[in-house]
Amino acid sequence: MSAATTPRLIIHGGMGRLEGNLDIPHKEHAYAQHRQATTRLEDFRDALTGIATDSHQVLLDEDARAAVLHALRLLEDHPLFNAGTGSRIQGDGKVRMSAALMDGPRNLFSGVINVEAIRHPIDLAALLATEEHTVLAGEQANAYARERGFLPHDPITPERRTEYEKLVLGKTGTVGAVALDGSGHICAGTSTGGVGGETPGRVSDAATVAGTYASEQMGVSCTGVGEQIVNQAAAAKLATRVLDGMALPEAVRKTIAEADALDYRFGLIGLDRQGGMEIGQTRGVNVLFASHDGATVRSFFDSLAEQTKSGTSQPR
Ligand code: GLY
Repeated sequence: MSAATTPRLIIHGGMGRLEGNLDIPHKEHAYAQHRQATTRLEDFRDALTGIATDSHQVLLDEDARAAVLHALRLLEDHPLFNAGTGSRIQGDGKVRMSAALMDGPRNLFSGVINVEAIRHPIDLAALLATEEHTVLAGEQANAYARERGFLPHDPITPERRTEYEKLVLGKTGTVGAVALDGSGHICAGTSTGGVGGETPGRVSDAATVAGTYASEQMGVSCTGVGEQIVNQAAAAKLATRVLDGMALPEAVRKTIAEADALDYRFGLIGLDRQGGMEIGQTRGVNVLFASHDGATVRSFFDSLAEQTKSGTSQPR
């Protein structure tokens, strides 16, 4: 197998610092000194590295699409993350979830917006890829889910209920995965419970091409303030830059610099056809990621430790 087709994947569990009760430390408070935050960080690290390892095996056994779906299902099931079970509660006390899947080689985007009471929104997004109309929202998405046998599921955890009752609202939190398989196919997926406390009917970036995109050259999943990700058309812009010949690292740097100029808050994970994996994050943001390149599992935790050692300010 050539280096270009070595299967690898990268996943994210949202952004740390804006994730409500989780506060990922930055240079202003070295993380080693924050035992409580560090303990929470370890929970996120363990969850993400476990899911990355599990999903990498699916990538080896099957393909990029299967691995992305597997990763997203596990992330949706994990109560730590704001997607599926553990989604944040909206302003009217309900959970509405959005998810999207994009298959690079087929140039096929499918998504579901503001669906309620299902366990795996990503599966609904994947099913919509078989339809003529590939993005469904709201009541019609709920009805479609029931017709297709998606069983009722309550995604509200006691922790999210308490958070909602105390009006402890964060800014965002989302999960995502991008995988490259042995055939060189790239697939990307994103799933979110939104920002918490939002106006019912709000549409996040996740199930748009601003938040999720894959092509034959690259794949990307975003996390952060959805409106800002949409304003920047972040994922689609990154894909166009790579299509037009820019290397992924440069495309990520440029896209993030543009967002920083507007003082935006978001992050992304990207993966290209050569197997290069990139984390992009605006000022003050840490993307909670884990990656698996076939040999090594890395996570945001390793990056934070390296920055603390080297004294660098902006995490990568
Ligand atoms: N990025 C997730 C959201 O804004 O809903």
